[in-house]
Amino acid sequence: MPKLTRVHARQILDSRGNPTIEVDAWSDQGLCGRAAVPSGASTGSREALELRDGDKKCFQGKGVLKAVSNVNEVLGPYITEEKKFQVNDQVGLDRAMIDLDGTEYKSKLGANALLGISLAVARLGAQTSKLPLYKYLREVLKCPHPTEKYVMPTPLMNIINGGAHASNNLDIQEFMIVPCMAKSFAENLRAGVEVFHSLKKVLDKAGHSTNVGDEGGFAPNLKSHEEAIESVLKAIELAGYRPGVDVALSLDCAASEFYQEKTQLYSMQGKDFTTEEMIEYYSGFLKKYPIYSIEDGLAEGDQKGWTALNSRLGSQVVLVGDDLFVTNKKILAHGIEMKQANAILVKVNQIGTLTETFETMDLAFRNKMVNIVSHRSGETSDHFIADLAVATSAGHIKTGSASRSDRMEKYNQLLRIEEELGQAAVYHPVRVGRK
Ligand code: PGA
Ligand code: ZN
Repeated sequence: MPKLTRVHARQILDSRGNPTIEVDAWSDQGLCGRAAVPSGASTGSREALELRDGDKKCFQGKGVLKAVSNVNEVLGPYITEEKKFQVNDQVGLDRAMIDLDGTEYKSKLGANALLGISLAVARLGAQTSKLPLYKYLREVLKCPHPTEKYVMPTPLMNIINGGAHASNNLDIQEFMIVPCMAKSFAENLRAGVEVFHSLKKVLDKAGHSTNVGDEGGFAPNLKSHEEAIESVLKAIELAGYRPGVDVALSLDCAASEFYQEKTQLYSMQGKDFTTEEMIEYYSGFLKKYPIYSIEDGLAEGDQKGWTALNSRLGSQVVLVGDDLFVTNKKILAHGIEMKQANAILVKVNQIGTLTETFETMDLAFRNKMVNIVSHRSGETSDHFIADLAVATSAGHIKTGSASRSDRMEKYNQLLRIEEELGQAAVYHPVRVGRK
């Protein structure tokens, strides 16, 4: 089995023009795997640390040269010393890096440094095994997967951007569509793209801006969240689809962003809401609109609120923990014990290695939670998560709207995978109708 002989990191730029880290990993046969690390804007407070230089004179403090040097000078020499790792020893490699860092949130060497290596080595492993990445993750690395066969994910497409991803007045960060009526990923994607184009017409007609936000969705100034939802519903119909049957809705409220720890109130749309009132607000939405899932409906600090939310609405809607669980197995285990949610958002850079991502997903699958593999708002052309979603039969991928290459790369990779698999099944969300 080929050995890992060299890793090399460099600073590149992400979709927001911020520095991020890219890593090349080499085997003794001269093969190379490459991966780039994404970056969030509305981050959970317990995410693994994204190491940034903080030198205000250089990229306004956002440089990642320390993380680059931690790969090139510290982690790299350590993991390639005496060629001690076979390229497919992902667990051994990830554990060694975690141990070398030695901190709970990877704050010594940086989760961006560790993740760049972890993903690049997985790509190198796929190359040396002569397998596409999704097959390598499943067949060689034995990633968790709740279904025997490969299942193509159903996309959650963020077509109206608000919150930290846009400079408009919407507090809810993401208004998503879930095209789910078709028997192939390609057809579902086509429906999503058609709704996106119809939404442009709907917004244009109403005199709103159709400039796009960080994740490629429109970022209009609308008078309310209701207006955003109703615009999306109109767009679904204009595109010839039935809301709630062919195409459902999802929200990511990213509520930690508008929660005041001090007063324990949520400041939303010019008003203050208690936790109870937030739950009531969502309950009202569920009565009016075909909503499939609500992500981060409450803040990560509102721990008991989540249990109340889940007990009240968990049987009607998929409740997704993003900032709440931060892809962390320990935190998820606590959430499961507290009955806080029935779904998890999976972001590789929240935890910082592929092995730990698998462990968290495995725990979620074993507890029958819905898994949504997700991008970050700051992305690159790297489409690792497309392969990850298929390898794990996660069911969903959340990777933005139908514009901006950083988002489309993931969808295009899924088109390639589906073509290669032939007749793969497609995940069908529960509680959403099908033609
Ligand atoms: P982020 O947003 O990447 O800015 O954290 C994505 C999300 O909240 O799901
Ligand atoms: Zn989120």
